[in-house]
Amino acid sequence: MAQIILIESNQTLKDLLTLNLVTYTGAEVIPRESAKEAIELMDILPNIDLVICPVKTGSEKTAEILGTYLMGNDNSCGLIVLGDGLPANLSDSAVNIPNGQDWEKVVESSLKILGINEEHLRKKIQPDYLPVPIHYFYSISSTCCDVFIRLKKGPDTYQYIKRLHQGDNFTKKTIDRYITQGLSHLHIPKDFQKNFTNFVSDQLVEKLNNFEGTEEEHIELIGNSYDVAIQEIKKMGFNGATIQLTESIIDGMIETAKNSPDMSPLLHKVINSKSGYLYQNGHMASIVASECLKKLGLDKPELHEKMAYAAFFHDISLCDNEELAKITSYEDLEASELDEEHWDMAFNHALESSLILEKHTEAPEGAADIIKHHHGSLNGKGYSTTGANKIPRLSKIFLVSCEFSSELLAYKEHGGPPRPIIKNLFQKFQDEEIAKVIHVLELTLKKKAKKPA
Ligand SMILES: [Fe+2]
Repeated sequence: MAQIILIESNQTLKDLLTLNLVTYTGAEVIPRESAKEAIELMDILPNIDLVICPVKTGSEKTAEILGTYLMGNDNSCGLIVLGDGLPANLSDSAVNIPNGQDWEKVVESSLKILGINEEHLRKKIQPDYLPVPIHYFYSISSTCCDVFIRLKKGPDTYQYIKRLHQGDNFTKKTIDRYITQGLSHLHIPKDFQKNFTNFVSDQLVEKLNNFEGTEEEHIELIGNSYDVAIQEIKKMGFNGATIQLTESIIDGMIETAKNSPDMSPLLHKVINSKSGYLYQNGHMASIVASECLKKLGLDKPELHEKMAYAAFFHDISLCDNEELAKITSYEDLEASELDEEHWDMAFNHALESSLILEKHTEAPEGAADIIKHHHGSLNGKGYSTTGANKIPRLSKIFLVSCEFSSELLAYKEHGGPPRPIIKNLFQKFQDEEIAKVIHVLELTLKKKAKKPA
């Protein structure tokens, strides 16, 4: 079995490349953080077949160091460099793929280097139809292309049957019927992937920006749009469509908080909506953070926006592992019995999520740092109650908001006697500034409780 060392700091891209390299080359993919770590491994494992790395990792000139090492060792190990700026002395010895997100190109080049029959695998790399999660179709009422269902005909043969025609109108009921039949995905012709993403995004933006209906319907639309947005961001990164969709969702989140004078009923509507955990946690954290900002005399539109961006993205690196987002302390993590990969994923998720938002050049400044700090650690790694004393004030407000939302969601999931969430928060964080935030939250909840029913 061939062995590939992969150096990639973007967790989403790393996952995408690893999955596809393993699937299409059958190789073992060994992740490493830097050229230094890769060389240490190659010193003891000289038969590595291929190294895939970015031009730079942080301040380290990764490609240059590895290229020089491989040339010096005169071995046959291949080198693929992702990103612009390939050092001139590597132009003959390395394959450069300027767009590192182009995983198909990375797989193709890897196949060539590993001497695997490319034609045979090309068919697998480019299937004729692409799966689309069925909930995407809840948000649209017509499609820009034909839509198919996939039926299994044999151990490795499928038949695609057209169910929706391009331009046809359909209702939620039609989609519900497919869900009842057990379908989780519908399929579109592969050539329409980009068009379809743009089409769905445009329709959602249109609905979000011109929404007319009840608050519950608004929340459901925001939740559904959120699920589409995070999947598209994972797949396509930030482009015109995903940036616009994100903005409309965030505007919607801020608007619901603005239009609802009392925090608690709105939180209840979100928690009881038909939507996923990450969305509920994000929207609720945004609502609580906005309430705290108001009560702390920080009622400025730019701060509400910053909090909403942080709320939208704070656990995005866990979008395919949302159970891990329910862990809110080091003790929980230790008790979780996760395998090493998922343990690391949970441990580093605040940092990884902040790195994803950093790629969004139009996001408010400072939102990525707030995400990095949302479990109390300055560097975004792990969970810290004492470290939370050192994070900036806005990060403390967001941390309390996240903790409060997570506790409400945990209570909803597990039930049992009501938990003294506020008292527990005071105990968990021994910091004066954090105590002030918890205190205003407590006052808001008490005020609500005193109101006649
Ligand atoms: Fe988190």
